[in-house]
Amino acid sequence: MTETIGFCQETRPESCAFVLFGATGDLAGRKILPALFGLCKKGLAPRNFYILLAARTPLSRPELERRLSELMARACPGAPPEAVTDFLGRVDYLRADYESGEFYRALGARLDELDAKHGIKKKRLFYLAIPPAAFGKVTDGLGDSGLLAEPGDRGGWSRLIIEKPYGSSLERACAVDAGLKKDAAESQIYRIDHFTGKETVQNVLALRAANSVFDETWNNRYIDHVQITVFEELGLEGRADLFENLGLARDMMSHILQLAAITAMDLPSSFRDTDFKTEKRRFFESIPERERTAAAADAVRAQYEGYRQEPGVAANSGVETFLAFRFFVDNDRWRGVPFYVRAGKKTGAKCTRISLVYRKPEHGIFRGMDIGYPNIFTFNIHPDEDMSFSLIAKHPGPRLCFVPKTMRMDYPERAGETAAPTDYERLLIEAMAGDQTLFLSSFEMQFLWQFLSPLLAAWQADPYGGALYSYTPGTSGPPQAAALIERDGRAWV
Ligand code: BG6
Repeated sequence: MTETIGFCQETRPESCAFVLFGATGDLAGRKILPALFGLCKKGLAPRNFYILLAARTPLSRPELERRLSELMARACPGAPPEAVTDFLGRVDYLRADYESGEFYRALGARLDELDAKHGIKKKRLFYLAIPPAAFGKVTDGLGDSGLLAEPGDRGGWSRLIIEKPYGSSLERACAVDAGLKKDAAESQIYRIDHFTGKETVQNVLALRAANSVFDETWNNRYIDHVQITVFEELGLEGRADLFENLGLARDMMSHILQLAAITAMDLPSSFRDTDFKTEKRRFFESIPERERTAAAADAVRAQYEGYRQEPGVAANSGVETFLAFRFFVDNDRWRGVPFYVRAGKKTGAKCTRISLVYRKPEHGIFRGMDIGYPNIFTFNIHPDEDMSFSLIAKHPGPRLCFVPKTMRMDYPERAGETAAPTDYERLLIEAMAGDQTLFLSSFEMQFLWQFLSPLLAAWQADPYGGALYSYTPGTSGPPQAAALIERDGRAWV
């Protein structure tokens, strides 16, 4: 049966050049290159499009092709060989020396040459898949050599994409941001958080906006509390160096806050960038600031057993691999409704999920009676992409007993979309189209650090103390995480 689609809108990427700095690094290999390949393979890339990879490693053309072919075979097993050949045809490589003006001159010359070959007019997306400490060097180099032209200059544009954690503290992150703004306007800076590009996350707002039946109940009159779970089966995946300097909270907080905002912000008057950002900002501004003692009292952090024996991890590491916490949003919609979050590495099967737990009925025939179960609306983001609503029904039989029954919408299967973009693919399309809606503003980046800072300060004051619990890999964290929610008379769903 063909589904009838109502309102339908498509973002079309503009023809452009994609320049990837840090092209031989971990982020490029795990996320960006597979996304670029995916866009080309699915026919979602712009018609005129090429990719210039830049990294410090010297690579000959055959070496580059061998590396990319191996990477594609790993990241997209079963991809047709013609897709790989087509992709390789769009890729070029330039050895980078980020410190030297000569490199940026050579980059400019190569871009002009490739623009002419591919019929593109100075439309350039620069992806900085390099450590935040090196952002400034690269943006200064691009700025000085005229490669960060303002949008509209000579009909072209230049955009920068950067990736969290944008620094390691509020001060560092603000310094990194100020460095970027020295060379580029805010309208040219795309701060990526790939969770905003996930299909189900996109659907949270679409569903709320299109179905008043839900959004009307998305408030403290009906909702008892909200839960966000981001569990991963994997541990470090060879990223010990990075993780030892970050810890789970710095690594994942941006994702968690984006999930919370998209679920709970007031609906914008349109999905246009400015309306959307204004409402998101209002939501973040409604989260009260906390002292470090108060923040730490509402949080549990833990490390999985065996973490300190992992290669590259310090024998006395005080880094957390698990975090659970509670926070409140002080606005008319959510006042009094706790948001509970838990996220961890090696916490059983991968599971990313947002659940809105409704209040049980407290009126009519159920006044003073506990029917046993609440309604729960759940957005499953990983591994399944679906939504479910658990309703309470009468158990069939002679007695009046209640049971929860789940209505489930298996979302991508229904849509029959084989070529749906992945999270990174979607965000790259948006950046190529010049739409910043799904990217983080400078304010959001600062808020992230303001939110994290009291927690980090509390932990720094007591790095190895009782505040760092431990848990067995494969479980859903330490018992203290269960106690955090149970002390409020609730339980993780
Ligand atoms: C990244 C974190 O941003 O998100 C990783 O740095 C984490 O540590 C990953 O594993 C999770 O993303 P996804 O899309 O696999 O759920």
